Amino acid sequence: MERVSSIEEVRSVLRRPRVEARTIGLVPTMGALHEGHLSLVAVSRARCDLTVVSVFVNSTQFGEGEDFDAYPRDLDADAELLDGAGVDVLFAPSTAVMYPEGAVTRVDPGPMSQMWCGVSRPIHFAGVATVVTKLLNIVGPDVAFFGEKDYQQLKVIERVVADLDIPTHIVGCAIVREPDGLALSSRNRYLTPEQRSHALVLSRALAAVRARVEAGETDGTALQRELAESIASEPGVTLDYAAVVDAETLESVTELRREGRALVAARVGSARLIDNVALRPAL
Ligand code: PAJ
Repeated sequence: MERVSSIEEVRSVLRRPRVEARTIGLVPTMGALHEGHLSLVAVSRARCDLTVVSVFVNSTQFGEGEDFDAYPRDLDADAELLDGAGVDVLFAPSTAVMYPEGAVTRVDPGPMSQMWCGVSRPIHFAGVATVVTKLLNIVGPDVAFFGEKDYQQLKVIERVVADLDIPTHIVGCAIVREPDGLALSSRNRYLTPEQRSHALVLSRALAAVRARVEAGETDGTALQRELAESIASEPGVTLDYAAVVDAETLESVTELRREGRALVAARVGSARLIDNVALRPAL
């Protein structure tokens, strides 16, 4: 695996494969890697000739009082995992490389960035859209892979790539969970064992809603209420939002007529956790 930290180096490493028309896959991450990230690497390796992973804790997507400073960083451990997973290039730039003095331009992803997670994190998706646009410009991948774990992020990125005519195909990948249902996240490291057991309410409540939809329930308002109530009643868990939305527009749905998504965010101890499931009405 080649490990590079400058824009010139990553472009130079990719020059030859590009000329040889080898397909390039990119997996953007913030490090503190786990099996969720490695599942994206596996999909990229299956679909592309060459896989690039970026590790960059992106300051512009963290709001004031959020966990930018506390965010776990261990680049050597990440590099070892990625090398073992068969990654070809690790791009790990510094903040000075990605945001040199004077850099002020932001990509504004529009209304979708102000919904759901955007309500409590108003600058978050502009920061994500900006850094992902930059990474796509730097690496120039044929395909970029994102987890459905961050479902709103995936939809925002699809919007940005379409609107800005970026010639990269965006692929969403399934959520990787612990055997007990907890969605893997770098932020799970903030949980004590007791908080972790309370956090299981998120995946449990989502699974219950999915089962209700499979059994024929299409009343989005009722499903949303059930989801919110079961999460809010769990001790140690503070609900941020629970929503039953259209899978493409992310607007709330009162009646599920096509594929939907149940989205939740909650605070457990110092961690803000998110999770979601697909809702496929049996029409
Ligand atoms: P990060 O949280 O490190 O996640 C990197 C990628 O891994 C994202 O596409 C995320 O959805 C995916 N991922 C995380 N946990 C997952 C899980 N349990 N199952 C499947 N995929 C999972 O998301 C970011 O970083 C950043 O916002 C980034 C896109 C890199 C921009 O800074």
